[in-house]
Amino acid sequence: MERMCVQRVSKRKENSLHILLTGAGGQLGHAVQGIFSNHTVVACDRRQLDITHLDAVRAAAASYAPDLVLNAAAYNAVDQAEQDPEAAYRGNALGPRNLALVTAARGIPLLHLSTNYVFDGLSRRPYHEFDTPYPQSVYGHSKLAGEEAVRALNPKHYIVRTCWVYHTHGKNFVQTMRALSQQPEVRVVNDQFGSPTYAPHLATALARLVTTEAFGTYHLAGRGGASRFDLIQTLYALLGVRSQVKPILSTEMPRLAKCPPYAVLTTLQEPAIQLPPWQDGLAQFVQSAL
Ligand SMILES: NC(=O)c1ccc[n+]([C@@H]2O[C@H](COP(=O)([O-])OP(=O)(O)OC[C@H]3O[C@@H](n4cnc5c(N)ncnc54)[C@H](OP(=O)(O)O)[C@@H]3O)[C@@H](O)[C@H]2O)c1
Repeated sequence: MERMCVQRVSKRKENSLHILLTGAGGQLGHAVQGIFSNHTVVACDRRQLDITHLDAVRAAAASYAPDLVLNAAAYNAVDQAEQDPEAAYRGNALGPRNLALVTAARGIPLLHLSTNYVFDGLSRRPYHEFDTPYPQSVYGHSKLAGEEAVRALNPKHYIVRTCWVYHTHGKNFVQTMRALSQQPEVRVVNDQFGSPTYAPHLATALARLVTTEAFGTYHLAGRGGASRFDLIQTLYALLGVRSQVKPILSTEMPRLAKCPPYAVLTTLQEPAIQLPPWQDGLAQFVQSAL
């Protein structure tokens, strides 16, 4: 641990936990810090705790003695992963493996985030928790390897797969397209489908999940499915801008990594921990962005 992590203490309430948050500088990391007011959160960004260093993870766990570790850290450069698989596996498999080893040794749960990219995207219906993963990209393989390490090493795990995360903090597709909303025309692919997920909605669901002790794998994403085109048309309508949104095919915008064409997630778990519809998340994003 090179620098002290930031600790926000909450009044101890029933079910409140002392949580070590990794990847605190990212989109979800920010949302968790804003939403987890029932819990005490020790927030570590990458400079404060690099999860690829086992000794640093051990030292942080010993120093802060958390009741649970929430891993929001990841190597998320999906296209770059194709050219630098080692970096992807270090961040997405070795890091979670270190966290799983350390949390298991301390007998505490680990909440770890994963992705729709573990699926091939060829299904014609939303993917649930018991569907068989079949990744098609280095990023997807590295995230699946991280899931497998967590499952194998710490039985007290929550593995949460999510999809198309966006927030007012950080770089994401929704922010990029918002920045382009003054252009007369934007081109958006209409043959990639997912579940757009507003990070604060995801954080709210996680805050509930960590108190359940119902360990296992969860799909938590904005409810319902949308193409990228649907998402941006809805965004521009909410923003009240007149930019023309032109639907195009993925083949007109080639990328290094293969993106699952249909990556809508659904859950078979109790409705109590589902997210609101994706349109509600987008409306809240627009409200807080304006
Ligand atoms: N964003 C999406 O659309 C999406 C979709 C599906 C699933 N997910 C998953 O959801 C989780 C949260 O995603 P997010 O959108 O919040 O990601 P994000 O904004 O990219 O944040 C990830 C954070 O992890 C940090 N990090 C990277 N390597 C690290 C390491 N070795 N040790 C410690 N920190 C490290 C990054 O720091 P630097 O910036 O300094 O590298 C960044 O602050 C991840 O598991 C991600 O795979 C995200």
